[in-house]
Amino acid sequence: MLPSDDSPQRLYLELLKGCLTRLLFPDCCVNTQLAPTGQFDPEARRNGQDWPYEAETMIGMKRLDNVEHCVRDVLRRNVPGDLVEAGVWRGGASILMRGVLKAYGDTSRSVWVVDSFEGLPRANPDLCPEDAEDRLADFNNYLGVPLERVQANFERYNLLDEQVRFLKGWFRDTLPSAPIGRIAVLRLDGDMYESTMDSFTNLYDKVQVGGYIIVDDYGALANCRSAVHDFRNRRGILDPIQSIDWTGAFWQRTE
Ligand SMILES: C[S@@+](CC[C@H](N)C(=O)[O-])C[C@H]1O[C@@H](n2cnc3c(N)ncnc32)[C@H](O)[C@@H]1O
Repeated sequence: MLPSDDSPQRLYLELLKGCLTRLLFPDCCVNTQLAPTGQFDPEARRNGQDWPYEAETMIGMKRLDNVEHCVRDVLRRNVPGDLVEAGVWRGGASILMRGVLKAYGDTSRSVWVVDSFEGLPRANPDLCPEDAEDRLADFNNYLGVPLERVQANFERYNLLDEQVRFLKGWFRDTLPSAPIGRIAVLRLDGDMYESTMDSFTNLYDKVQVGGYIIVDDYGALANCRSAVHDFRNRRGILDPIQSIDWTGAFWQRTE
């Protein structure tokens, strides 16, 4: 939990997170192994362990708190660069990024909203054997959210403006030539080995010293975790990985 204070900024951001998760006005959820009943369970929603029906994010409160913490911290320390989420679904975590910029009056940074807007790629075991068992693309009816709907979600919170930039397409196609400059916070939520590795390969070097790298699926998905370890080993990255909750992890770039 972030420290509580009663400043208008903090009150706004708490309300925003309560709306984005629907913890404030419950919906229901899709039947999955993690949430077999389909009923709204506040604990599951808080922990980001269900697939919501209406909420704009599935990552739960601790991972939203972490997004807020990282963005506020780079603002406080003047770490230069934009905020990027690769893998946005309905846009909730990216909406929060824009909300933090708005709350603290930053008009210079962009939030990059990067997704196929049609779900995950089919696993390609020839290219990425680590993804051989990955079946998430079977759920693209649910996991693929059209760009227009994500934009409408930003609009719903009055947070759609020129500081929000959308990059549509498969990471492997869009990221190598993405017009993204310096990055202060990079959030990876593409679930798969391929998606995580493509994001690292093309974006990691843009993350500024003092900035943050957040990986949503580090604990839950072995293929995502392998990509993190492979990339860190290849690049000799020793910055300590900190746990956020049962799946999310992050580190601060120090060199
Ligand atoms: C679990 S969802 C993201 C959840 C979201 N961050 C939230 O706040 O709820 C994964 C997203 O990653 C996208 N994605 C995964 N791999 C991708 C790839 N290689 N290229 C483009 N989009 C990808 C999917 O379309 C989907 O929107």
